[in-house]
Amino acid sequence: MTTSGLNFKELVSFAHDLYGVGSVPLHRPVFEGNEISYLTDCVNSNFVSSVGVYVDRFEDQLKNITGVNHVIAMANGTAALHMALLATSVQVDDEVITQSVTFVATCNAIRYAGAWPVFVDVDEDTMSLSPQSLRQFLEQNASRENGQVVNRLSGRVIRAVIPMHTFGFPGRASEIRAICDEWGLILIDDAAEALGSYDEHGHVGTQAHVATLSFNGNKVVTTGGGGAIFTNSDNIAALARHLSTTAKVTGEGYFDHDMVGYNFRLPALNAALGVAQLERLETMLGQKREIEAAWNRFLSACGYETVKPRLGTRTNNWLTTFLVKDRSERDSLLDYANHHGVMLRPMWRLMSSLPMFEHCQTDGLKVSKWLEDRVVNLPSSVRMS
Ligand SMILES: Cc1ncc(COP(=O)(O)O)c(C=O)c1O
Repeated sequence: MTTSGLNFKELVSFAHDLYGVGSVPLHRPVFEGNEISYLTDCVNSNFVSSVGVYVDRFEDQLKNITGVNHVIAMANGTAALHMALLATSVQVDDEVITQSVTFVATCNAIRYAGAWPVFVDVDEDTMSLSPQSLRQFLEQNASRENGQVVNRLSGRVIRAVIPMHTFGFPGRASEIRAICDEWGLILIDDAAEALGSYDEHGHVGTQAHVATLSFNGNKVVTTGGGGAIFTNSDNIAALARHLSTTAKVTGEGYFDHDMVGYNFRLPALNAALGVAQLERLETMLGQKREIEAAWNRFLSACGYETVKPRLGTRTNNWLTTFLVKDRSERDSLLDYANHHGVMLRPMWRLMSSLPMFEHCQTDGLKVSKWLEDRVVNLPSSVRMS
């Protein structure tokens, strides 16, 4: 079936050329390194929970990759976001500006902290929070009152901004940081999808006060379930480490706690898997670059092209993405491919249209709505050798 230059049958058969016969998932993990050996070692050590050498090794590897001073491994990316909000003192009934183009975890975490999301538009090229729209929203809606930024419409304090680096493409972090500094807002980067993505200043997330990662099974690197917080702030790191370890006050064998803490740390078993996965990060990123290039060759021949990272940045190519003409072409393509065993995915439904967030303030989200109709993610797994 064809509309315009895109032949759905040829697209499906190209996916099978890339990944072989049988069903082709969007993104599946590949375990071809030391995973079994480290897991066995971890089991034999008896230290399978959140204390153990594998958690330390995993955090050290992530420090090297991101270049930050502190990494704290967490149970998953959602818990990492929740902890980032708590450790930067976002309060109940505050507002947090974020994008409507994101996975639901970003907004759920804001609600776990008792705060409310406010949705501002994304840029068309990065699909991530637009600095221009952020500035415009603040200028039109916010006032500075007693050292705080207050939303004139809701009367609530706007405390933080959470951009998300969509599908691994680096957003405009330094411009957003400059706006946050100007207004005195906290910047938390949801870099769940962006391990191995770099902008002109370094690893994605390092421009923020604190950033988070996910190691869910569908990410570039997986620990089964897992996440991390990374930051250069000693204070944020200390509070996040303390709060996520049940706010335990020291003393082996004693149960002393000084705050209502959380059990959010990553178990060593999961970290063991992660240590092996991270050893192969550069190899996997190289293979993902090749997959993206192959899709781009196929699409170019049909008059389409894959989304590219903005100039001067490097994406991890988590999900190869392209834009179709409109929602109708998107839906026919998804329907055809998914019925022929090749998993293609649309963008998430906009968060501002979900029942639990539909009453939250937006800036109109013109670009987000346009993208929602057109974005298609293509199978992007590393191939098994
Ligand atoms: C943008 C974004 N934020 C947060 C998360 C939550 O991570 P996790 O599934 O590890 O809780 C994910 C993905 O899973 C994500 O894609």
